[in-house]
Amino acid sequence: MVGHPCVGGQRVQFWRYSGNDTRFSLTTSDDESLLTSGALWFGSHYLAHYIANQTANLDFSGKTVLEIGTGTGFVGIALAAIDIGIRRIIFTDLESQLSTVIANVELNKELFARSNIEVVVMPYSFGQSVGDFYRALMSKGFDWTVDVIIGADIAYDVSLHDPLYQTLEQFLRNEQKPAKLAIICEEMRWKDIYNWFFELITGGNLRLKLHEQVADEFAAKFTVEISDSCTSSNPTSSKMYVSILE
Ligand SMILES: C[S@@+](CC[C@H](N)C(=O)[O-])C[C@H]1O[C@@H](n2cnc3c(N)ncnc32)[C@H](O)[C@@H]1O
Repeated sequence: MVGHPCVGGQRVQFWRYSGNDTRFSLTTSDDESLLTSGALWFGSHYLAHYIANQTANLDFSGKTVLEIGTGTGFVGIALAAIDIGIRRIIFTDLESQLSTVIANVELNKELFARSNIEVVVMPYSFGQSVGDFYRALMSKGFDWTVDVIIGADIAYDVSLHDPLYQTLEQFLRNEQKPAKLAIICEEMRWKDIYNWFFELITGGNLRLKLHEQVADEFAAKFTVEISDSCTSSNPTSSKMYVSILE
């Protein structure tokens, strides 16, 4: 499979960003019933790297973060490991795709406790009503408001664009509980597909604060060390796009 830095039941053990070393464990899955959620994608590495290096501009302190299409949970777990003051993380994916992140959250429960971060894993499908999302969260006993939405490699299919846009708009324009920011990172595998997504955003009701094309050398800026059985590959594109939406 292309674009997977790590597939199939392998364990990430170490992450380096910007010269800082961070340790945490995380396992990918080769369960064939999983779509793309069991693998670790480059967009997730870059998104975590990007946020870790933008702490002067992006304030995560005390924030409730919602990760959509979380897959393995890499981004949220990496952000917990670098401890940028996040208060809560809600990891979400399609209901059928949650097994990998559930296992990884369990694996990292001490890390979350040490960083004082409350964590929930729950189903959320792009386009699903935000009212239903908050009702489901409340039914678990959490009266939380999402401040920041994060997502990596989630706009790769045109059929996801409309529902994904609806999710972003519903959260960012919510009258009762407006989220402040969404940060989405895409590896530029299929230029047209991502350009259609960006057109949808700019043609709509959301403000695209930054649409950054990252230099080709991004991969050299961070490393992820994985167990010896891991099949490591290079990104299929040399470009990552980070969209910051308000
Ligand atoms: C390419 S993977 C990226 C996973 C992870 N964010 C990463 O970068 O490693 C796409 C993710 O989006 C999820 N996904 C696909 N369609 C979805 C939908 N309609 N609603 C919510 N999540 C969806 C998949 O289950 C999968 O976890």
